[in-house]
Parts: sequence; C-alpha cells; structure tokens
Amino acid sequence: MRLEGKVVIVTGASAGMGQAIVERFAAEGAKIVAVARRKERLDALAERLKDEPGEVLAFAGDCGKREDNEAMIDFAVEKFGRLDVLINNAGIMDDNTAVGDVSDEMIARQMQVNAIGPMYAMRKAVQVFLEQGDGGNIINTCSVGAFHNTAGVAYCAAKAAITAATKNTAFMYMEEEIRCNGIAPGGVVTDIPLVMPKANEFGFARTSSLLTHSPELGMPEDIANVVLFLASDESSFINGVILTCDGGWTNL
Ligand SMILES: NC(=O)c1ccc[n+]([C@@H]2O[C@H](COP(=O)([O-])OP(=O)(O)OC[C@H]3O[C@@H](n4cnc5c(N)ncnc54)[C@H](OP(=O)(O)O)[C@@H]3O)[C@@H](O)[C@H]2O)c1
Repeated sequence: MRLEGKVVIVTGASAGMGQAIVERFAAEGAKIVAVARRKERLDALAERLKDEPGEVLAFAGDCGKREDNEAMIDFAVEKFGRLDVLINNAGIMDDNTAVGDVSDEMIARQMQVNAIGPMYAMRKAVQVFLEQGDGGNIINTCSVGAFHNTAGVAYCAAKAAITAATKNTAFMYMEEEIRCNGIAPGGVVTDIPLVMPKANEFGFARTSSLLTHSPELGMPEDIANVVLFLASDESSFINGVILTCDGGWTNL
C-alpha cells in the first residue's frame, strides 16, 4: 500500500474529486479526515469505506472559515496523533462574470473559499509539521483557470492566488522538508456545474469559446491518481510544482 499509516486531511470530500481521493486513499491504507459541509454525505462515505485498509473519519466544516480550517487539523491530530498530508481540495465555481460586472459578494466568496481558507489550513498544517519535526506534505487543488481563463475573474484570480501560495510555501519550507504542490485540473466530470451560480451571459459566451478546443473531460478518479502520487513518497523529489491535469487542453 502506498499510503499505509499516513494521516491525511481531504477537504471537499463529500463529492467529486475529493470523494474520489478519499476512496483511493482508503484503499491505499491512509487514515483520513474527510471534510465538507454536508456531514451526512461524509458519514455515508465513511460507512461505505469501512472495510478498506485505511480509516475514514468525517468532519463537518466550512473551508472558508478560519476556525473550521484550524479545527479540522486539531481533529486529525487528536484522533490520529499526527498529520502527514493536507489536501486543500474544496472549492466553488463562480458564474463566469468578467470584471466589468462582478459583484463584491462574488469576489469575497471566491477569495474566501478558494484562496484564503486554504491558506488558513496551510498555516496551521505547517505549524504542526514544524512541531513534529519530520517534514510534511501539502497539495492544493488549483485550476487551469489561473492561466487559461476558463471561468470568471473572481474564480481565476482566487485560483491564481492559491497557485502562488503553493509555490511560495514550497520555497519557504524546503529546508524543513515540507513539500507543497498543486494540481491544475481542466474539465472534470463532477457536481461543480450543478452547484454553480447561474452563468453570466457575456462571460459564459467568452469562456465557452475555449471549450470548443477541449479534449474529452477527465473523471474524478483520474485526478485521484495524480493526487495519490503527490501524496506518496514516490513524489518525494517534486516540490513547488503545479501539475496540469487537463488531457492536453492548455497545450493546444
Ligand atoms: N470539475 C472541474 O472541472 C474543475 C476544474 C478545475 C478545478 N476544479 C477544482 O477542483 C476542486 C473540487 O471540485 P469538484 O469539481 O470536485 O467540485 P464538486 O463536485 O462540486 O465538489 C466540491 C466539494 O467542495 C466542497 N465545498 C464547497 N464549498 C465548501 C466550503 N465552503 N467548505 C467546505 N467544503 C466545501 C463540497 O462539499 P459541501 O458542499 O458538502 O461543503 C464538495 O465536497 C475545487 O477546488 C474546484 O475549483 C474543478
């Protein structure tokens, strides 16, 4: 098993990529704290995976809030005795609005959930890693939106912020052997379109033009495989990298 005994936090675990990551990691022997707001879905996931070699504990929290980000890390340390890997995967899409029309609320919410919340979690995780004294591993779900304009201004800017935070953290703590990498998915088949706000007509027309060049969409399991590699010791020489997982979309 590739993650035997490793203590891992996965946010956004009640659906999509986060759920697929928990399923894959449980099969590889990880001890997982699965985080999202919909606790009933996390409980059902933990129950479904109870016979896997790993262990899954549900933790209800809003990843935009500092106190919940800190509490989920305290919970992992309390239940499993340490933390090895933090996966900041929870995220929300915007409505594809361009800057001329974006609301204050949209800018604030995108930043809070997709950038600021994950930084709160990174701060607390790094403090735990330094105290443990044997390195650490952070993986952030960024997006091709940070450099490929696949969404509105608020989403793309928030994902660019967490991309920069990922690379900065890798640089800052490389001598302490705390790795920090990201993934930048392209189009992946998840629930995200179902929970998106109603698309802005102008912005959606602009971003849709990019979709005509999109290869086949990825599946959450494709992403889970990449995250498994980054979480395992097999990727120990990889640090400060944002791994694009888009079937070649942004290489066209
Ligand atoms: N799908 C794509 O094409 C695509 C492409 C590039 C990047 N991404 C990124 O990939 C990540 C996962 O997205 P997905 O496609 O798997 O979406 P999804 O199916 O909608 O799942 C999103 C997950 O994030 C959780 N979440 C959302 N807001 C939260 C909050 N405030 N606090 C805690 N959890 C929250 C949701 O759980 P609750 O609702 O239960 O809280 C859910 O578990 C996101 O960061 C997204 O931006 C997706």
